[in-house]
Amino acid sequence: MYLTKEEERVYDGEYGWARQVCMKILVKLGDLFGADRLIPIDSAHISGVSYKTMGDVATEFIEAIAADANGKAAVDATINPQSFDAEYLAKKLPRELMDAQLRITRCFERMGVKLSYTCTPYYIESPHMGAHLAWAESSAVVYANSILNAWTNREGGPSALAAAIIGKTPNYGMHKAENRNPSLIVELEQPLREDVEYGALGILLGKILRDRIPLIKGVEDAPKDMLKQLGAALASTGMTNMFHYRVNQRVETLEKIMVENNDVKKTVEELNTANSKKPDLIFIGCPHCSITEIKQVATYLDGKKIANNLEVWVCTSPFIKRKTEYYVHKIEQSGAKVLAGTCAIVTWTDKLGIETIMTNSAKTAHYAPTLNKAKVILASLKECLKTAITA
Ligand code: F3S
Repeated sequence: MYLTKEEERVYDGEYGWARQVCMKILVKLGDLFGADRLIPIDSAHISGVSYKTMGDVATEFIEAIAADANGKAAVDATINPQSFDAEYLAKKLPRELMDAQLRITRCFERMGVKLSYTCTPYYIESPHMGAHLAWAESSAVVYANSILNAWTNREGGPSALAAAIIGKTPNYGMHKAENRNPSLIVELEQPLREDVEYGALGILLGKILRDRIPLIKGVEDAPKDMLKQLGAALASTGMTNMFHYRVNQRVETLEKIMVENNDVKKTVEELNTANSKKPDLIFIGCPHCSITEIKQVATYLDGKKIANNLEVWVCTSPFIKRKTEYYVHKIEQSGAKVLAGTCAIVTWTDKLGIETIMTNSAKTAHYAPTLNKAKVILASLKECLKTAITA
């Protein structure tokens, strides 16, 4: 990969160890994927923030970067959710886990990264069309490429951090127009009706497509929150980083696949792993809730009470929580909790005695059995909220 004279100096360590390591990560990645050069990025979004998913070795790496005076973000950079929220889980989880998490977050603070703690950074600041990004959260990558038409590969935690500090990313993959075209058309036997069906379609397509980019017909008018569910699930089971959903005449010659309604139904059934219909936790907000979703939950729960012995978590970013104070209040009056900056997957639900999680997110349903050792009930938002007050 071609480097400018200045980039070579960074590579040779003239600007300190942290920048040198970051440049080496980017060059290695660029060489591996055949990039021709580095290109400037508008923003980076860093995953690998919760101690639960990181562990000690990764923490030590971040600490070493943060300890170097040159280990500072060169562009706008945001971070994924952490393992707890300051108001609720912080009081419930063991102190040593909290301390381990704080070690990580303090590093990001030192690096000048925005402590956004969210997997939906696009609600804080939406990247403009055609902007080059280095984002690591897979659901945000699909959202950025497909819905916002910003251009990003699916970075790993270290490469997104490296890109944040260098302010550039290797030019390959989704940064090139020729790699962003659909290579097949997905048709739906029946229109999708609710959030879980969008998620289930994503899970199903992720397995079939691996990394191919589809044009999905029949979801052109779907609300963005539904497409968010689709994209998050798609990235959970496959390597596809983008889908098209606006029909374009020029693609009519492409290979077609038909998804039958039964396939979607079967996928929802397969994601339901719980024997009992009674959850310990109802988790809404994977990916983190938008303002619209917070309003929907608040409208439903307004004036109602959550059933006894049931946890109900509505997860969003600290930013959206601040913006929706009025609705947050309504939700919390019911006994449900609005958790800012974390989610059920990146925290230790098992340490809280939670064995069965009910959720409207196919992504959570996919990961919770392994990452939370939990059984899952996957159901629509409406169904989840109905259960919340009657369970
Ligand atoms: Fe976000 Fe947690 Fe889901 S990080 S995408 S809410 S698993």
